[in-house]
Amino acid sequence: MIPLMRVEMSQEAGAAVSRVLAGGMIGQGPVVDEFEQALRERIGNPYVATVNSGTSGLHLALRLVTDPTGTGTGADGGEVLTTPLTMVAANWAILANGLRPKWVDVDPMTLNVDLDDLARKITPATRAIVIVHFAGYPVDLARLSDILDEAEAAYGFRPPVIEDCAHAWGATYRGTPLGNHGNVAVYSFQSVKHFTTGDGGLMVLPDAQLAERARRLRWFGIDRSAPGRGLVRADIPEWGYKFHMNDINAAIGLANLAETDEVIRRYRDNAAFYDRELATADGVRVTERAADRQSSFWVYPLLVRGKDAFIKHMTEAGVMVSQVHERNDRHTALRRYASLLPGLDRAVEQLVCLPVGRWVSDEDRRHIVDTIKAGW
Ligand SMILES: Cc1ncc(COP(=O)(O)O)c(C=O)c1O
Repeated sequence: MIPLMRVEMSQEAGAAVSRVLAGGMIGQGPVVDEFEQALRERIGNPYVATVNSGTSGLHLALRLVTDPTGTGTGADGGEVLTTPLTMVAANWAILANGLRPKWVDVDPMTLNVDLDDLARKITPATRAIVIVHFAGYPVDLARLSDILDEAEAAYGFRPPVIEDCAHAWGATYRGTPLGNHGNVAVYSFQSVKHFTTGDGGLMVLPDAQLAERARRLRWFGIDRSAPGRGLVRADIPEWGYKFHMNDINAAIGLANLAETDEVIRRYRDNAAFYDRELATADGVRVTERAADRQSSFWVYPLLVRGKDAFIKHMTEAGVMVSQVHERNDRHTALRRYASLLPGLDRAVEQLVCLPVGRWVSDEDRRHIVDTIKAGW
C-alpha cells in the first residue's frame, strides 16, 4: 500500500538525540535556543516561540489575542470565526479558551475558508478569526487583510487572525513564508508533518511584545531570561502553561530542518506531476492554483465524482487515500454551533487526498495517475 502520510526522519536525528541524552540537560535549554535561531532565519521573522505541539500553540495564540491584558476579561464567551474542515485542534482550543466557534463556510476549490462568507460573518461579537491553510495551500492573505480593514471601518476594531499553518511548512504567500503577514501563525511539528520534532510546534508572532508574552506564558508565566536566585525567581504577573519545547525534540528538529528543503521539493514535484496529468482526466477536478502563492502539498487534494467508489478503486489498487479531516461541525461536542454550510457540503461530497510525499516514487505516481485514468 502506498501510504498517505509517513514520518520524514533524518538519519542524523538519532545521534543528535543521543548527544542531548548524554549531556545531562534534557529540558528547555541550549538546543531549543539553537533551534529557535535556525527557525528565525528560515522564516525570516525574529519573533518566534517553540512549543510542545501545534495544539498548544493554537491554545496559547487564542489566549494572547482574546485576553490581551491577561486579566481574563477578553474570554467572555465571544465568537471566533473558524473553519469546520480541519483537525479538531484549533476548535478545541477555542472551547478551551471559553470562546464560541462560529463556522465559516469552505470554498471547495481551495478547501480554505470562503472569504466572502467570512466577511459577512464578522460582527461586534467577533473576538478572533482562525484560518487553516488546508493541505498547505495559502489562504488569500491580502484579501483577508482588506476584509479586516473593512471590519475596522465598520466596527472600530480589527479582529486578530490566527493562521493554523500545521499543513504548511514551506508554503509561501507572495514569495514569503507564512508567519510574515501580520498575524499570529502556528506550525505543527507532529510526527507525520513535512518537518517533525517528534511532537512540537512553533508560534510566529507579529511583534516583540507578543513574542515576549508567548515565551513567558509557554512556561508557567515565568520569564526564563530574568535573573533568579537559584530556582527561585521573581514574581509572576500572569499565569501560564507548561507548553515549552525540550532539547530532545529540538535536537530532532535541528537534524530534520537541514533536510526540509529537499523534502518539500519532492512533494512539490509529485504535485506538479499530478497537476499536469489530472488537469484533463475524467471525473476529477484539480483545486485552485493561484500564481501568488505556493502550496507545500502536505497531501494532494482532489475533487472527485463518486467519492466512495473512487476510494474503493484506489484502495484495491494499493493506494491509500482519504478526506484526512472529518467535518468538525457534526461532532457531538460542537453540534450546538451548527449552521448551514453549502460549500462545505459540496467539498466533503467530493474531497479525497492522494499521497504526494517524498516516499512516492516516479513509479508510484505513474501507478496512481494510471489507476485514476482507468476509471472507477
Ligand atoms: C490543521 C491542523 N491543525 C492543528 C494540528 C495540531 O497539531 P499538533 O498535532 O502538533 O498538536 C494538526 C495536527 O495534525 C492539524 O492537522
